[in-house]
Amino acid sequence: HNHIDHATPEKVKAAIEADDTHAHLPDYQGLAAYRESGGYAKLEELRKSGVFEDVQQTLLDAGVRGLGGAGFPSGRKWGFVRAEKGPRYLAVNGDEGEPGTFKDRFYLERHPHVFLEGMLIAAWAVEADTCFIYMRDEYPAVLEILRREIAALEEAGIVKPGFIDLRRGAGAYICGEESAMIESIEGKRGLPRHRPPFVAQVGIFNKPTLVNNVETLYWVTRVLREGKDVLAATEKNGRKGLRSFSVSGRVKKPGVHLLPAGSTIADVIEAAGGMLDGHELKAYQPGGPSSGLLPASMSHVPLDFDMLQEHGTFIGSAAVVVLSDKDSAREAALNMLRFFEDESCGQCTPCRVGCEKAVKLMEADHWDQPLLEKLCQAMGDASICGLGQAAPNPIRLTMKHFPDEV
Ligand code: NAI
Ligand code: SF4
Repeated sequence: HNHIDHATPEKVKAAIEADDTHAHLPDYQGLAAYRESGGYAKLEELRKSGVFEDVQQTLLDAGVRGLGGAGFPSGRKWGFVRAEKGPRYLAVNGDEGEPGTFKDRFYLERHPHVFLEGMLIAAWAVEADTCFIYMRDEYPAVLEILRREIAALEEAGIVKPGFIDLRRGAGAYICGEESAMIESIEGKRGLPRHRPPFVAQVGIFNKPTLVNNVETLYWVTRVLREGKDVLAATEKNGRKGLRSFSVSGRVKKPGVHLLPAGSTIADVIEAAGGMLDGHELKAYQPGGPSSGLLPASMSHVPLDFDMLQEHGTFIGSAAVVVLSDKDSAREAALNMLRFFEDESCGQCTPCRVGCEKAVKLMEADHWDQPLLEKLCQAMGDASICGLGQAAPNPIRLTMKHFPDEV
């Protein structure tokens, strides 16, 4: 999968013809090794004699939250779904489309069974009929690992054949939005649905559906196997737990860095080996393009789910992109809006027309700031889903923090 990093059509074609796109699987922990280390004992124990309320309380005490970006307490969500009449489904969101986010891939390419056991525990918890895994097709190695390991689970009798249904996305960012993902799983075009009802009540084929992100389920296993303190014991700047930061940009060691929740950008950059030589921090994206850009003067801000009220942004999926004095905040913001314009599903006018109009306004030498602000207001208020609602963030934050550039 790595050898087509700088893919040209010729290289992709050659790789497909040689049928070696899966030839370089990473060295991951397979089923036998995982079981030797005690893997799946927790699942077996729960299936025999587990009490849902105990498991739910452990997750709440540990502070397990949704790590796709929203941070919703997982124990509560499991409770919502379980309270609904069956049949119920589980859908794992492995679409990981937020630019700069690669933490799910990181865990899946190393410890797929930690995730798979968490998924089966979640399925036990809500008594799911089927587990759908909606996996990003741009991760061929992950797909191959999952195919192999799901087959191994079936062979070992840990799951019945067909209980886990592995689905491939087709490259649409919007299909990572949970209701669009559900539409896609149902075989339809991925258009987000209105809420309420929440998918916990009306999900796949209108049945109650638990949607969890890959990393969330990874931590479910770790918390239940190692105890709540694996997360709860870490405290920093008033926040509890750990966050997997996907770090890229002008740093020496880009990659996934596991740090306490509430770490600042200064901590993140330090974990990533510092700034590249000759580069000085200018701005950073705290959690994907939907979170916009913050200036270097805000290096002391604890990064966590609670940033919205005070700073007008959020940590989201913790996709940190570090920009330096060699970069333009204005160009970065424009790039983010071009991405949203491309990926808008087109279903609602504020987002479909709003993103396009924003791009045009942002391409001008001088931004018409009052008009952009009005547009942001309309998009934030009237868009159906998070894409259109969050698209104003890069515009507003750039006007606020980088006025000289716009
Ligand atoms: P949300 O806050 O609307 O919902 C979070 C979860 O809680 C959903 O599963 C929702 O169904 C559930 N929920 C909330 N209230 C509920 C209630 N009263 N009853 C039952 N269930 C309830 O957030 P959303 O729109 O699902 O996610 C937004 C986040 O996704 C953003 O932080 C963004 O950064 C992130 N994101 C992540 C991407 C990735 O690649 N990981 C891609 C794009 C965005
Ligand atoms: Fe589609 Fe954008 Fe509307 Fe979301 S906000 S439903 S992506 S048009």
